[in-house]
Formats: sequence, C-alpha cells, structure tokens
Amino acid sequence: MTITDQQKKILELLADGEFHSGPVLADILGVSRSAVWKQLHNLTELGLEPIAVSGKGYRLKRPIEFLSSEKIESVLMDNVRLNISDLNIHDRLDSTNNHLINLAKCAARSGTVCLAEFQIAGKGRRGRSWVSPFGSNIYLSLLWHFHNGPSAISGLSLAVGVSVIRALASLGLSGIGLKWPNDIYWQEHKLGGILIEVTGETHGPCAAVIGIGLNIYIPDREAAMIDQAWIDLTRIMGGISISRNRLVGTLLNELLPILADYENHGLAPYLDEWRSYDCLVGHPVVIYQGESAITGNAGGIDDNGLFRLMTADGKACCFASGEVSFSKN
Ligand code: BTN
Repeated sequence: MTITDQQKKILELLADGEFHSGPVLADILGVSRSAVWKQLHNLTELGLEPIAVSGKGYRLKRPIEFLSSEKIESVLMDNVRLNISDLNIHDRLDSTNNHLINLAKCAARSGTVCLAEFQIAGKGRRGRSWVSPFGSNIYLSLLWHFHNGPSAISGLSLAVGVSVIRALASLGLSGIGLKWPNDIYWQEHKLGGILIEVTGETHGPCAAVIGIGLNIYIPDREAAMIDQAWIDLTRIMGGISISRNRLVGTLLNELLPILADYENHGLAPYLDEWRSYDCLVGHPVVIYQGESAITGNAGGIDDNGLFRLMTADGKACCFASGEVSFSKN
C-alpha cells in the first residue's frame, strides 16, 4: 500500500488534530465529499484513527508532528552533525533496516540515517514483526562501517541501549531501564527495541545497520497486534506528547559519539552505566534458547556483556544469546 498524494494532503490538513468540515476538505482537495470520506477511511490502514462527528467534520484522534530533517538537524550538536552523512525521511518503507542494508550494498557511508513515518514490514528481533503505524512512533536506522569485523563490535547493542536511555533522560524521562540484551523497558513493559544487522567479513570490514524502534503513541487497534506487555511515552507521561523531532535529534546526539568511539574502546566505558539501568538484575527470570527454557535469578551482565543466570543449584551460567522474560512465579 502506498501513500497517495491525496492522502498526504489530507494528512497535512488533519495533522493539527482539529475538526475540518467535509465540504471544506473536499473543496481544498478538489474532490467530492464521498471521495474525502473514502480517503479518510483508508487512513485506518496506516494505523491512524480518524474521527467523524456530524455537524463538525473530521479530525484525527491525535495530532501528528511530521518528521522534519530541518527540525532534527536544529537539535544536533556540531560534532554530531559532522558525522551524519545523510538523513532521509520516508513516508513509507517496508523496513528502515532493510532500506539501509540495501544502501550499504551501494556504498552508502557511515552516518547514513533513515527514518520512516510508516513501516509496512517493520522487523523485530527473532523474526518478529514490529508494529509501525503512521506518524506515531520512531523508526530509525543508522548505518556504520567498522574495520575489524563483527567480533570487534560484540556488545554494541548494549552500548546503543545506553544511548537511548541517555537521550530519554536528557528529555526529563526517568525510570526507564534496559532488559538484556537491548530492550527498552518501563515497569516490566516494553517501550522500545534495538535490532542490529551486520553484513560483511568475519575478520574484515563490516557494515552494521542499527535499527531503533521507540513507542511514542500506539493506537488501540495497533496495540491489539502486540503480543507482549508494551507501553508508549505518551502513556508514561500521562497523555503529554513528546516531540518526535526533538527526540530523534537527541538520540542521534547520544548515539553517534558512541559509534564513532566503539572500535577504540568497545563496551567497557558503558558497562557500569548499563548495569545501573538493568531492570532484570535480581529478578526471577526464564531464558529461552531454541526449545529449552532455563529458570533462575538474573545475575546482571559480565564484562563482555553476556547475561548471567544464577540457577537454583547456585551456579552462574553465561549466555551470549537468548530471550529473557520476567518469571511469573
Ligand atoms: C526488537 O524486537 O526489540 C527490535 C525492534 C527494532 C525495531 C526497529 S524500528 C526501526 C528499524 N527497522 C526495522 O524494521 N526494525 C527496526
């Protein structure tokens, strides 16, 4: 499904969240009133929530702040702006990660940033899909080249998690934690996630596409498609909206310096900070690996960023991969 010029125009008119009458919309767009109604109805396919009230007209349930490269750039620090080689905003993509993986094959440079208003096939970890309604959340991917192969960037996703928490904290949001390896959590509910996809040689140059999804506002209909406990920033903040452009700019300010330094110092500079955000440590958990489920108490991460599980027989086991959940017992 594409976003037509007509839909884009309607969205721009309705972005203020105010009522607009059918005849006025029809007039501006140069179409019939029934065509306006049809276009509005189609907006639900983008995950939007148009509301019709007789005598008043149409409005969106929530206003939309469109992503804007000018607004994002106005937030960037000078040294960060220098490290961004391209910043593209798309109305619709299958997945911002896929888009950058393809660009990486065509020699795109480190610091290429891709954002989308809507992902038709947003990807989560472990083959899951990432619910990506239009204009509501942040779907961001960033390309970075490394010289020394994937092994040199192990633990990168943990450092990226630190950058997300720093960005949220600098906007005044506290109480947000990290769930190993790189889920953004608030009170046992998922607020965001990180998906890093690496292509290239085992011991040579590689390209990492770092994808970050952050929930700003999840419409009810989309929420029904999420199969785990979730939360968004609007709900955390009691209905107050946060500027997506400011958040993206702040996130890039935190993320770019970490990427630029990662091959020099690795995870070590971020370990203590990561541990201070660890929302699993001390909790009874289950780690799933393939078919097996192992229970124990979360024992934090080791110096390589591996997950430590303290089992009932007092042993500590370390895991490089797996899916950890809070245990219900
Ligand atoms: C997870 O499962 O926790 C990872 C979610 C990552 C979602 C983001 S949204 C931007 C980027 N593009 C994608 O298709 N996925 C990532």
